[in-house]
Amino acid sequence: MHFLVTAGPTREHIDPVRFLSNRSTGKMGFAVAAAALERGHRVTLVAGPVSLAAPPGAKRLDVVSAQDMLGAVRENLPCADALVMTAAVADFRPKSASTAKLKKSAMAGVIELVPNPDILGSIAPIKEGRIFMGFAAETGAPEKEALRKLSSKGLDFICANDVTREGAGFALDTNIVTVYGKDGFREDLPLMSKMDIARRLVSIVEGAAAGRGL
Ligand code: PMT
Repeated sequence: MHFLVTAGPTREHIDPVRFLSNRSTGKMGFAVAAAALERGHRVTLVAGPVSLAAPPGAKRLDVVSAQDMLGAVRENLPCADALVMTAAVADFRPKSASTAKLKKSAMAGVIELVPNPDILGSIAPIKEGRIFMGFAAETGAPEKEALRKLSSKGLDFICANDVTREGAGFALDTNIVTVYGKDGFREDLPLMSKMDIARRLVSIVEGAAAGRGL
């Protein structure tokens, strides 16, 4: 199979020295890429700005903003059998990015934000038979929101990630997730390394792909 994996944050520039972003380090996504390679799959890894080395064998594409990430995902989707979106994509960006560093006086007002495109939503019409797995980073009681995103984003699976739990979420080498499938599938993955979680996610995707003859 060919896995397309997104990882890390996106950066939405305000001016050449300032941006909006989040705490994602790319560890979860890079682990999914490594686990898929370990199983002999081809991997295209679309990475936001992170300081990790790509696992050997992955085709790495570095992007900055949500719009860049959408472009890279759209361009590489036709070759992929599965998409795993671990990236923490910024939902908003400044309406316009200044080409010169803004003066403090200009920063004092409100920075006008506009919504970024929803990457999964934008590519849903060209999904065809591919397996789509997303993540939902939530702060407490993630099930309801995860199930809403599973359905609204047209996913096959979503990994509910309560980032307030000890050992789970951003920047750590461990995580805790519950995987929900659109057909009622549910699997709790208790505290374990991101690499072991990634191995199980790859195997869940492989199982779904086999069911579709991919
Ligand atoms: O990178 P690490 O430091 O290892 O941290 C891992 C993680 C916490 C970032 C990861 O495990 C995680 O939970 N990733 C999802 C983060 C998130 O922002 O989820 P969300 O609920 O905002 O988005 C839901 C899904 O839609 C995600 O698959 C996301 O990639 C996707 N999305 C979101 C916004 C957007 N504009 N387009 C999208 O496609």
